[in-house]
Amino acid sequence: MKSNNPKQQPEYSKLADIYDAVMEDVDYEFWADFIDAIMLKHHPNPVDVLELACGTGSVSLFLDELECYNVMGTDKSSQMIQKARQKNEEMLCNVQFEVMDFLDLQLNSTFDVAFSVFDSINYLQNAEEVLVFLNEVESVLRPGGLLIFDFTTPKNSIHAIEYLNNEEGYANDNYRYFRKSSYDADNQLHENTFRIEKLANDQETVLQEFSEVHQQRIYTLQQMLDIIDQTAYNIRAKYSGFDFDKADDHSLRITMVLQCPSNQ
Ligand SMILES: C[S@@+](CC[C@H](N)C(=O)[O-])C[C@H]1O[C@@H](n2cnc3c(N)ncnc32)[C@H](O)[C@@H]1O
Repeated sequence: MKSNNPKQQPEYSKLADIYDAVMEDVDYEFWADFIDAIMLKHHPNPVDVLELACGTGSVSLFLDELECYNVMGTDKSSQMIQKARQKNEEMLCNVQFEVMDFLDLQLNSTFDVAFSVFDSINYLQNAEEVLVFLNEVESVLRPGGLLIFDFTTPKNSIHAIEYLNNEEGYANDNYRYFRKSSYDADNQLHENTFRIEKLANDQETVLQEFSEVHQQRIYTLQQMLDIIDQTAYNIRAKYSGFDFDKADDHSLRITMVLQCPSNQ
């Protein structure tokens, strides 16, 4: 029986329990290979690599398995980082996972590359926040270091509503979830609401119910370029999707490759 008022939770707290099941169709190994290829194309010798908003750590862990990098993974959600640490142990990997807000990086070391994937940057609600993010990351990159991140565009949101809205699924034998997804084109706001039910062994009786509301700001390529223009970064590339095609106004997901000046 569904209640009309499930307990509202912070983003990525309860969802952490079922995140990997909800994302089971995402090919994180392929995504890690894409980030690896970008790093090698644009940096002479990337060694120390920082993932921002790493979630449950899938990309960091695949990069670690390449045995070419020292990887640190960070995320604001302690529940997501807990899952990442569990996976790190199970996979016998060496990633250091830390709870950290990417708007307030508390790090004692610097990095050759920082990256963030899967539209985590769209959680930044306005241009000012994106600017804080860009400057914060620049402060932990070495001269010539790279910042790689993707974001989704209005065209993607319009398209994605069709398959994200009213999605229903089961996860980990004892969870059921429902996703509502809507896009406010005037304000470029994409909202996903998850209702998560913890089930009894009969997989029907609902023991507990939670909800999480996720709000993302959706940026056009030009809006993102205008923000980057206010920073010291040089734009090395903007890629459309998961290959090396140049992004344009028709792109759904854009990966930016920014480089810090060599002599800061
Ligand atoms: C769509 S998930 C992507 C997670 C992971 N990158 C992946 O590919 O599965 C977005 C992630 O961004 C994180 N996040 C949102 N705002 C953040 C912030 N200010 N600082 C750090 N992480 C943040 C969330 O906790 C969540 O794990």
